Amino acid sequence: MTILVTGGAGYIGSHTVVSLLDAGFDVVVLDNLCNGSAESLSRVASITAKAPVFIEGDIRDSVCLSDLFSRYDIGAVIHFAGLKAVGESVLKPLDYYETNVGGTITLLKAMQSAGVHKMVFSSSATVYGLEAPTPYEETQPRGTTSNPYGSSKAMVERLLEDWTQAVPEASVVLLRYFNPIGAHESGLIGEDPQGIPNNLMPFMAQVAVGRRDKLSVFGGDYPTPDGTCRRDYLHVMDLAEGHVSALSSLEQPGVRAFNLGTGAPVSVLEMIRAFESQTGVQIPFEIVARRAGDLPEFWANPEKAQRGLGWFAKRDLDAMMVDTWRWQSNNPEGY
Ligand code: NAD
Ligand code: WQD
Repeated sequence: MTILVTGGAGYIGSHTVVSLLDAGFDVVVLDNLCNGSAESLSRVASITAKAPVFIEGDIRDSVCLSDLFSRYDIGAVIHFAGLKAVGESVLKPLDYYETNVGGTITLLKAMQSAGVHKMVFSSSATVYGLEAPTPYEETQPRGTTSNPYGSSKAMVERLLEDWTQAVPEASVVLLRYFNPIGAHESGLIGEDPQGIPNNLMPFMAQVAVGRRDKLSVFGGDYPTPDGTCRRDYLHVMDLAEGHVSALSSLEQPGVRAFNLGTGAPVSVLEMIRAFESQTGVQIPFEIVARRAGDLPEFWANPEKAQRGLGWFAKRDLDAMMVDTWRWQSNNPEGY
């Protein structure tokens, strides 16, 4: 079967393309390269000894999409393409809604015209909102999101629910990712943010490789065991494999949501210690003021994914650190 992977030249997309090719799927990647790299796909080909088809194009471009669907016999779509920086979304809400919501509508229309009704969507733990008790469970309703990025994910979940109501053969899996980190075990592909990293792991890796002086730990006075925020970090290859598991559950019509996380919260200080002990590289850090919008802690109850998809996270925190460091030290400036 051929899978269309939108955003497949990005961080999670490129790792998922490896898992898909390894599992025997043919892959067509559609990416406009606004935050991805064609080099990542060359490296995917080195890892798997198979090459995905790459189309440089935009999910908002209906002509490009209808051409793509007429040329390839797509069985299902894994939809990663989108903008993902929380802070930027506050400054540029229209861009975020245009790409994340508008782009998804354009994509769904093209899928419908081509008779393609299966989608795995990159959602986020952020849809549980500001007030949800932890661990987050799929039975909890979506909550109040605090920024346009989070709101765009919640809106797309809602529109996919409405789409599956209207189209009886439609089948959608919403994967709510917690905090993906790490890199493929080969060290050939990994996370390569443009500019100053927003997220903890890539920032820490850039400090370790000497690109940044020190890590700022945002807040040391949270109501958590060591005063720093706790998150549910999962290995990007576990996340990638979750998409392959989700594809096989797309025979069932309707929409289903699954948390993809480990179920174990880890603090920022524990992350620093784990990185240092696994790599032998010290991370200079300073505890500074809290970052606006951060929740003290949240993590997944991942049991539904195990029951419904047969998926659970297999790689531990040490592997996440070792694999991040292999990628970053072999590619200090990224791709
Ligand atoms: P990423 O930025 O590395 O990948 C997204 C890819 O989409 C990039 O290659 C980019 O060039 C492409 N893209 C963006 N707009 C496009 C458009 N209009 N047309 C075609 N391609 C376009 O991000 P990622 O971390 O790999 O995230 C993938 C998806 O997972 C995103 O939807 C993101 O919101 C979601 N997600 C990410 C995280 C995370 O922590 N990384 C957590 C939860 C959900
Ligand atoms: C993790 C922890 C920070 C950077 C974000 C999005 C979320 C999802 C994943 C897509 C927090 C602390 C961070 C730094 C720090 N994305 N930190 N110093 O905020 O949990 O989630 O990415 O859906 O929507 O909000 O991840 O990696 O930014 O932060 O101390 O330089 O690390 O305060 O406690 P977050 P993160």
